[in-house]
Amino acid sequence: MSASPYYVTTPIYYVNDRPHIGHAYTTLACDVLARFKRLEGHEVHFLTGTDEHGQKVEKSARAAGVETQNFTDEVSQNFRRLADDMNYSNDDFIRTTEARHIHAAQAIWRRIQANGHIYLGSYSGWYAVRDEAFYAEGELEETDDGRKVGPSGAEVEWVEEPSYFFDLSKWQQPLLDFYAANPDFIGPDTRRNEVISFVEGGLRDLSISRTSFTWGIPVPDDSDHIMYVWLDALTNYITAVGYPDENNSDYLKFWPADLHMVGKDIVRFHAVYWPAFLMAANLAPPKRVYAHGWLLNKGEKMSKSLGNVVLPEDLIERYGLDPVRYYLLREVPFGSDGYISHETMVSRINGDLANDIGNLAQRSLSMVAKNCDSMVPQPGPFTSDDKALLSAAVAALDSIREEFNRQAFHRGLEVIWRVVSDANRYVDSQAPWELRKSDPSRMGTVLYVLAETIRHLAILIQPVMPDSAADMLDQLNVPGEARSFVNLGPDHALKAGTTLPKPRPVFPRFVDEEVTDSA
Ligand code: MSP
Repeated sequence: MSASPYYVTTPIYYVNDRPHIGHAYTTLACDVLARFKRLEGHEVHFLTGTDEHGQKVEKSARAAGVETQNFTDEVSQNFRRLADDMNYSNDDFIRTTEARHIHAAQAIWRRIQANGHIYLGSYSGWYAVRDEAFYAEGELEETDDGRKVGPSGAEVEWVEEPSYFFDLSKWQQPLLDFYAANPDFIGPDTRRNEVISFVEGGLRDLSISRTSFTWGIPVPDDSDHIMYVWLDALTNYITAVGYPDENNSDYLKFWPADLHMVGKDIVRFHAVYWPAFLMAANLAPPKRVYAHGWLLNKGEKMSKSLGNVVLPEDLIERYGLDPVRYYLLREVPFGSDGYISHETMVSRINGDLANDIGNLAQRSLSMVAKNCDSMVPQPGPFTSDDKALLSAAVAALDSIREEFNRQAFHRGLEVIWRVVSDANRYVDSQAPWELRKSDPSRMGTVLYVLAETIRHLAILIQPVMPDSAADMLDQLNVPGEARSFVNLGPDHALKAGTTLPKPRPVFPRFVDEEVTDSA
């Protein structure tokens, strides 16, 4: 078991908007990894936060009629609240308006400048405020009503102003070499190929300062300019581990980050600009950037302007937190776009959760309560069926790790649910209720094997459904310090004679109100 450090980050969220389920999704994936790695014994640093500068935020504050700093204070709180609502286990929450960050952003600017990679010029070209991105003429499209939009559909405006530039064009070959030497740097493969062909197509120097508005971090020694919001924002990942103090113990321990989780819309910033900035500052690039797909509602990416956002608090209230956490990572293959709907949610809740795992635990533990005096029964010798189930439960961890390490959360969950199905088949074939009279000692063994399997399942689902897993482990009387992955396997098996509390259902069925009303 390795105690090596693990650093995982979410994108920092623009404070122009209320958090919706798309934002919750990105952070959830990171939370599951952070919890998984902690259970494996790694020292984890899990960072999230808010991106508070730039024209987009300034515009939103103005539209709300609130002073910009107050506006960011307020909206940033919504993202902190989201972290509580979703039960995220982040170790830090960074805001780009904090002094520690302003200091770090100016320090990286100075480093890149001292290394000769920044020059003053003037920018004229297209800018999309919604994406906070510059686009080349060739990337633009014209809408039916004659507006010019960037590749994401965001409207662009013509910008002409003095600007500092980063010599991105010089980083084409170093980036291509870096991608070649680090084949796991970008996942999934489709995104990796996209990024490589974008870079192979040639890179233009990047405008990294603005003068036409003021909501940003001042450029060192030239306060007419503020830093381009993406250079500012990306730097948050090193601010949070103590940069510019490169001897800071967190920096030494956690940088380079193990994983920057991002949505596919912002992969270019993380996989092209960010490693180039870092290399230009003689700092190590992160180990991996993974770009997941979008959660779609009615076929569109959710956004405030489209009026189709789903709010996490509404889903939690309706379906419960852990079912929502499970559903989001199970229903949509991570990396692809996917739809969320009431029907598929209910089918996961009633199928995978209530019927499959919930019922397995409830009926097994009820039989223990009823037939074994509420104590873990004494097992007799194990048959090959017993051994097969127990070893499948233990072996699951290696497969889950493999899937989670490549961010295939849906596949990791499938691995767990294969054990759930094995266990349900085992109950049916062993029929412990029939053994009660005919062979009570064999019944004890079967119920023991089931309780042990449930212990494994509960330990394994902790990263995704921490509260429900805790509830199941409480019902097995597993002490808090015996719930990590080292406790899987026969060495830490349940002890016969341990008293168990009265079992209670962990995963209730979802019943549609309409159905209840008409019933
Ligand atoms: N502020 C930048 C990130 C800076 S990181 C140095 C930003 N913020 S954002 O708030 O617009 O988006 C943050 C993340 O939320 C992105 O990864 C984006 O892909 C994700 N999502 C926003 N809507 C989404 C969906 N509908 N579905 C899935 N993820 C989505 O970009």
